Amino acid sequence: MRIHPRKTVSYLLLSVGGILFLATINWKTEQLDAFDVQNGSPSDAPWWREGSSRIGESRSPPINIWHSGTDRYSDRILAQMAHVPTDYTPSSPMKYIFVPGGIWDTPMGQSKFVEQRCRVDRCALTIHQPTRADAVLVQNSKDAAWMKKQPGQIWILWLLESPMNSIGLTWLQDNINWTASYRADSTIVTPYEKFVPHANVSRLPGQAMGNFADGKTKLVAWFVSNCNAGNRRLEYARELRRYVSVDIYGSCGDHRCARGSHGKRCDTLLRKDYKFYLSFENSNCEYYITEKLFWNALFNDVVPIVMGGRKSDYLAAAPPHSFIHVEDFRSASQLADYLLKLDQDDRLYNQYFRWKSTGSFINTKFWCRMCAMLHDDNKPVIWFRDVERWWRRNATCTRDRWDRAADIVPSWKMSVIQ
Ligand SMILES: *[C@@H]1O[C@H](CO)[C@@H](O)[C@H](O)[C@H]1NC(C)=O
Ligand SMILES: *[C@@H]1O[C@H](CO)[C@@H](O)[C@H](O)[C@H]1NC(C)=O
Ligand SMILES: *[C@@H]1O[C@H](CO)[C@@H](O)[C@H](O)[C@H]1NC(C)=O
Repeated sequence: MRIHPRKTVSYLLLSVGGILFLATINWKTEQLDAFDVQNGSPSDAPWWREGSSRIGESRSPPINIWHSGTDRYSDRILAQMAHVPTDYTPSSPMKYIFVPGGIWDTPMGQSKFVEQRCRVDRCALTIHQPTRADAVLVQNSKDAAWMKKQPGQIWILWLLESPMNSIGLTWLQDNINWTASYRADSTIVTPYEKFVPHANVSRLPGQAMGNFADGKTKLVAWFVSNCNAGNRRLEYARELRRYVSVDIYGSCGDHRCARGSHGKRCDTLLRKDYKFYLSFENSNCEYYITEKLFWNALFNDVVPIVMGGRKSDYLAAAPPHSFIHVEDFRSASQLADYLLKLDQDDRLYNQYFRWKSTGSFINTKFWCRMCAMLHDDNKPVIWFRDVERWWRRNATCTRDRWDRAADIVPSWKMSVIQ
């Protein structure tokens, strides 16, 4: 099932960016299930794979599910997904998660946990009785500003947007226990997509399967509606357009595409005609990589040209050799030269598709992980004394390039939406 990208759709968070690839071809497989190694039948698959009927799970997670430790990119997602707390049983008392203001399109009650087939599903979302709730889920709004934290309550801060596009957090004082965001240093990491390499693949194949340049007559496309992003992405695209053809669709450009149902027609147009797509985020902040990389580009077989997180963030989240970072080049004109070179050489262009069939994008089961962690009786005590300072720390975003010190934004200069 593919749903068209829309930032506010909380579904986005549930399927979600891989972390397992390091600069060279170096698969990290120790967190993966034996299913991948043995290539077993679907019914033997871990519970979160499609078609699985397996029930028992390891109750001792192989890695610490709470802290990322020293590895900047350890997201602990697979371990959290496998986690079933020791004392948990299917008749354990329900954990109630109060959601101030509700969640657009997400039903209250237990259904989300059942629908995701959670191993630990005794949780319910509610907009009633905040004082009796076990947890409070704070989103990008001040809907919880009137609330008083009850003893024993776990407050979870859930953020989808970058620090440049989220509200000020000082009003939360020291109330937040866990964070949930795309950042790998969150308690519950919620990347937009997560790529998990198959354990039976130890290196990239020498060649892509098929010719992905076939029939493509156009070079670069970009679908964009916000023309005033703080990272000057539109200026960069216009500069690039001086050297190569860049078709800008939407309100910031002169190309139009009738979306059709779920944007299908635009996807088809991209897939058939274009070689490259500008996966430019609306702000350049560390780890900030959204559906623009995955859904717009990678899933449509166009090579993403990325701007947003640091290069190392993309190396960790994207499939191996699947993207071009703007900071691989000193200028837009040098990037243009490289694109022209790839345009002329199908063999080189197809290098960007060798990763296909070497792994899969998994549903990271945000709700399941949250529920399992809430049921854990051995939770470590965690809270943020100043979550605003954590979220908008020094140098977490840059106004333009990461490799130019003058662009780096100090925490106290970060603009905050009130
Ligand atoms: C590797 O395993 C995946 C399933 O995990 C399977 O789809 C794929 O065909 C296997 N590849 C090889 C080369 O055995
Ligand atoms: C949650 O945060 C509060 C401070 O707001 C703290 O006193 C409490 O121990 C924390 N609980 C857990 C389980 O981390
Ligand atoms: C903020 O980060 C920049 C870049 O990493 C660094 O040069 C600067 O010293 C830092 N400032 C503070 C106050 O930590």
